[in-house]
Amino acid sequence: MTMAFIRMFFILLFLLHFILVSSNTGSPYPNRRRYPYHDCLQGRSLVEDKAALLAFKKSVLVDPKSTLANWEDGVHVCNFTGVTCNEQHHRVTQIDLSSSGLVGKISPSLSNLTALQLINLYENHFFSSIPPQLSSLPCLQTLVLNQNDLNGPVPDSFALLTSLIVFAVMENNLTGPLPPSFFSNCTQLKVIDLSFNYITGRIPMEIGNCPGLWTLNLYNNQFIGQLPASLTNTTLYNLDVENNHLSGELPSDLEIVLA
Ligand SMILES: *[C@@H]1O[C@H](CO)[C@@H](O)[C@H](O)[C@H]1NC(C)=O
Ligand SMILES: *[C@@H]1O[C@H](CO)[C@@H](O)[C@H](O)[C@H]1NC(C)=O
Ligand SMILES: *[C@@H]1O[C@H](CO)[C@@H](O)[C@H](O)[C@H]1NC(C)=O
Ligand SMILES: *[C@@H]1O[C@H](CO)[C@@H](O)[C@H](O)[C@H]1NC(C)=O
Ligand SMILES: *[C@@H]1O[C@H](CO)[C@@H](O)[C@H](O)[C@H]1NC(C)=O
Repeated sequence: MTMAFIRMFFILLFLLHFILVSSNTGSPYPNRRRYPYHDCLQGRSLVEDKAALLAFKKSVLVDPKSTLANWEDGVHVCNFTGVTCNEQHHRVTQIDLSSSGLVGKISPSLSNLTALQLINLYENHFFSSIPPQLSSLPCLQTLVLNQNDLNGPVPDSFALLTSLIVFAVMENNLTGPLPPSFFSNCTQLKVIDLSFNYITGRIPMEIGNCPGLWTLNLYNNQFIGQLPASLTNTTLYNLDVENNHLSGELPSDLEIVLA
């Protein structure tokens, strides 16, 4: 009962945030982020974006709702189901294939879609590991892989995703420790949801490098050790670390609302 409540709370919270973030990404030049979005629009073309999406489709084995039926050569890529382009229609900026029941691997070809700001693959059956190549998406702000069958670790290379605001991988089979480098340049990061995985090791103290972090959900993993004192340097508002192997107390002067 309590657990269901907590989960529902986070799902609602997440959806709220997701809406806020997505409404932000509609503009081709959102908020003048530290990584200039303009640079991400250059260098490649819509033709290459389309090739990368068609390669992504090839790695999907089952498509029960025919979501990708119009992902074809003859269709304009900006009209592919789940795909959003920028206003000038010269680059793909978002992929949202949530709740499509897709089965397959996440093709590393997505890393060619360098103008991407949002990937949402929530509630599918993507398996195997998260492709480390996704780290070459410097303007990616929202990565949602919740409720899939992904395994393996959070890639070390994700240190390079310096525009990331939301990182949500709830309910997969992820293992291994969370690389400290993930937090080497996390000035934009606001939401981390790793709940219902098998992630081990300590919560890296580097997490204190993320000044804007306000939601940290590690519910139901294998984390050990103490909550890092550096969390006081974030703006944490929602913290859920239940069902882990943590010890010790909350850092003093950590002001949060416990879910
Ligand atoms: C952090 O990321 C920004 C781009 O968002 C980059 O300009 C800056 O050099 C990075 N800093 C470090 C220390 O890597
Ligand atoms: C990705 O881009 C590289 C060149 O930058 C190209 O060789 C490769 O074929 C592309 N892959 C896909 C799937 O589009
Ligand atoms: C997308 O599809 C609509 C409806 O079929 C069509 O009017 C529009 O021209 C298409 N857009 C592009 C960019 O091809
Ligand atoms: C994920 O882990 C659960 C529990 O260990 C297991 O039952 C399930 O088969 C795993 N799924 C995949 C896709 O590996
Ligand atoms: C918080 O950040 C300040 C300034 O960067 C640093 O000096 C301090 O050690 C940090 N506090 C913790 C508990 O890590």
